[in-house]
Amino acid sequence: MWSISDHDRGQADLSGRTDWWKPDPEEFDKSIDLKTDAPHSARIYDYLLGGKDNFPADREAAAEITKDWPNLPTSMRANRNFMCRVARYLASERGIRQFLDIGTGLPTSPNLHEVAQEVAPETRVVYVDNDPIVLVHARALLASSREGKTAYIDADLSDAETILDSPQLRDTLDLDRPIALCLIAVLHFITDERQALDIVDQLLRPLASGSVLALSTVTADSAPDEVNPGMAAYNARGIISKSRNKVEVERFFDGLELLDPGVVLVNHWHPDDAARAVHDAHVHMYGGVAVKP
Ligand SMILES: C[S@@+](CC[C@H](N)C(=O)[O-])C[C@H]1O[C@@H](n2cnc3c(N)ncnc32)[C@H](O)[C@@H]1O
Repeated sequence: MWSISDHDRGQADLSGRTDWWKPDPEEFDKSIDLKTDAPHSARIYDYLLGGKDNFPADREAAAEITKDWPNLPTSMRANRNFMCRVARYLASERGIRQFLDIGTGLPTSPNLHEVAQEVAPETRVVYVDNDPIVLVHARALLASSREGKTAYIDADLSDAETILDSPQLRDTLDLDRPIALCLIAVLHFITDERQALDIVDQLLRPLASGSVLALSTVTADSAPDEVNPGMAAYNARGIISKSRNKVEVERFFDGLELLDPGVVLVNHWHPDDAARAVHDAHVHMYGGVAVKP
């Protein structure tokens, strides 16, 4: 398991910019195989959001996938905005000061800690992803406010024990106080329903009462003619993933107090002007937020 904590930052620029550390992947660590000849979900997402941390294989896959799924970039932007609204809401309306964000993706401004620390600078965030390209760029996630703290763990979502027992998490988060577990746009990569439910359960179990589950995941409900062939295109390129209907997404919140407005297309969750401007048929993610009693 690779990991970087904020102690490793050295003379990091703490201004909140996320572009201060742009590594040459070749120089970072020769032992990390980025497999640049195969498309990766994090890099396709980065490309479709307008990022630069992607390779020809990712761009070619994105071009093919969006032939079937032309509104995928719109849906991804709606998802990213949902993540920002959720982080802001939890920090400002619910007093959450600790976040565990699994399936972080490549740094994309604003990152979750930037949104939450704008509300409460003392906020602490642990990021987790299993993609080596995210690890290579992880230092950009560590530009915490001076009052708060961020850490990064290179681990798999399905390995709850490794995540929860890691020194990075234990040094950053207090398990006796509420934590927001954020699984934003990652559960569609866990295709076995029982396994996905067990993962959420294992991650939530040790968290204190008052902790929060915030998630979003792909649905074909709003545009089956686009999403079904689009998901097939992802799977044909080795990125194994599935969409879920509303009932399947609601199951993740069983036993929790689902907050208003429940499980909805992400543009309907506490919408701002940008979210209100998006057409439902162009949004292919359900999202919801719930509190652990
Ligand atoms: C679509 S991106 C979402 C990024 C960010 N959460 C957002 O919503 O903007 C999905 C991320 O989940 C990561 N991921 C996929 N499967 C994972 C797993 N089993 N464990 C940890 N991370 C995973 C990918 O590497 C990628 O960075």
